Amino acid sequence: MWNPASWRQKEALQQPLYRDAVAVKDVEARLRLMPPLVLDDEVAMLRNRLASVAKGEAFLLQGGDCAESFSDFSADSVRSTFNVLLQMAIVLTYAGRRPVVKVGRIAGQFGKPRSADNEERDGTSLPSYRGDIINASAFDMGSRDPDPERMIQAYNQSATTLNLLRAFIGGGQADLHQVHKWNLGFLENNPLRDRYEQIARTIQDALSFMEVCGINSESHPALSRTEFFTSHEALLLPYEEALARENPVSGHWYESSAHMVWIGERTRQLDGAHVEFFRGIDNPIGVKVGPTMTSDELVRLVDALNPGNEPGRLTLISRMGSDNIAKVLPGLAATLRDEGRHVVWSCDPMHGNTVKATSGFKTRSFDRILSEIKQFFALLEGESVYPGGIHLEMTGQHVTECTGGAYQISDADLAKCYQTQCDPRLNADQVLELAFEIAEFLRN
Ligand code: PEP
Ligand code: CO
Repeated sequence: MWNPASWRQKEALQQPLYRDAVAVKDVEARLRLMPPLVLDDEVAMLRNRLASVAKGEAFLLQGGDCAESFSDFSADSVRSTFNVLLQMAIVLTYAGRRPVVKVGRIAGQFGKPRSADNEERDGTSLPSYRGDIINASAFDMGSRDPDPERMIQAYNQSATTLNLLRAFIGGGQADLHQVHKWNLGFLENNPLRDRYEQIARTIQDALSFMEVCGINSESHPALSRTEFFTSHEALLLPYEEALARENPVSGHWYESSAHMVWIGERTRQLDGAHVEFFRGIDNPIGVKVGPTMTSDELVRLVDALNPGNEPGRLTLISRMGSDNIAKVLPGLAATLRDEGRHVVWSCDPMHGNTVKATSGFKTRSFDRILSEIKQFFALLEGESVYPGGIHLEMTGQHVTECTGGAYQISDADLAKCYQTQCDPRLNADQVLELAFEIAEFLRN
C-alpha cells in the first residue's frame, strides 16, 4: 500500500546524513503546515498538455538552471530565464507548427545528486555539496554539514520565485509581440544573423498579418499571457513527502512543490525509494534515461510509474551523450512502441556531454549538444516515434560555461564568467541559437 511515507521502507540513495534527527522532524512538521506551492488543478492542466505532447500534437520545452542557488537569487535572474524560455518557445512554435508546453527547471531545483559522497581537497575530506536545499558549496565543515533548516529556505525561495513567475505570466511580460522583439534584438549583433534572419522575418510577417486582421493583445488578451509550469528533480524525499497533499474530494495525492517532478539517472532503481514515492503522486513525472538502460528494465519502470498507461503521466528524458544515443535510444523507443506504452520522449542533450576542459572547468560543447538533439529527432523519426521535447540546462545570463556557438567561446574563455553552482549551462545567446538551429531542421 502506498502512502507519502512508504518510500521510507525502501533504500533511498543520494540522501544527506543529518546529524540532528529531531531538527529534521521539526522542519518536516512545519513544511506539512505550509500552503501548497502549486495547486492540483494546475498539475492536472499540465498533465493534459503533456497528453497532447504524447499524441504528437504539442512539443515540450523544459529548461533552467542546473541548480538554483540561495545567494544568486534575484528578480533579474528569474526574469531572464523566463524571457529566454519564451523567446525559444516562439521560434519553436513557429517552426514546429504546434503549441509548445513551457516548463521551467525553476522554483524548487535545489537538490543535486553527486557521484561521490565525499570530496577530497589537499588531503581534507568533506561531504560533497548536494545543492542549497541540503548544504552550502564552500569547502569547510560548517558549510558542508547538511542543515535541515535549508529546506525551509528552499520552500520560501520557491514561493517567491513562483510569485514573480505568476506576475510575469499575467503582467504583459509574456506578450507575443514583445517577446518576438527580443528575438530581433538577439539577431542584431549576432555573427550568424543572415542565417536566422529569414525565420525571424517570417515570424514578424505572421504577427504583422495578425495585426492587420485586428488580432492584437487588446482584442485578444490571450496573446499577452502564456502558460508556464515549474519542475525540479524531486531528490530530497523528506522535503517532497512533507509537501505532498491529499485532494479531499478524490482522495488522490499530488506533490505540491512543483507541477512536474522527475527522477534522476542515479535514483531510478525499480525497487528504490524514489520510484516508490513517485508512483503514488498524481503529477506528471519524468525519469532520466541514460545509456545503461535496457529495454526490459525500461518496460518494468514504465509499468511501475504509469500502470494505467495514461498519456501525459510519464516523460522519459533521454540523456545518452552524442556518442551513445544512436546505439541505445532506437531500441528502447522501438520496444515501448511495440508494447504500446504511451510516453513522451524528451531529449536532455546536456548530461551525457559533460567534459573537463584543459582549463579545469567542467564544460559542454555547443556542437555536441546540437548533435545529440539532431540525432534524437532523426533516430526517433526513423522508428516512427514522436520526438516530444527538449530539456536544457540554461540561463538568461551571459555566462561562459559551455564552449562553442556563434560567439565561439573557447576553453580559454570559460574563466571569464563561469558562475554555475553545478553543471555548465547554455547562455542566452547559445539557447536562442539552438532554437533557430532546431527551427531550421524542423521546417525542413
Ligand atoms: C540534472 O538534471 O541536473 C541531473 C543531475 O541529471 P541526471 O540525473 O540525468 O544526471
Ligand atoms: Co545538471
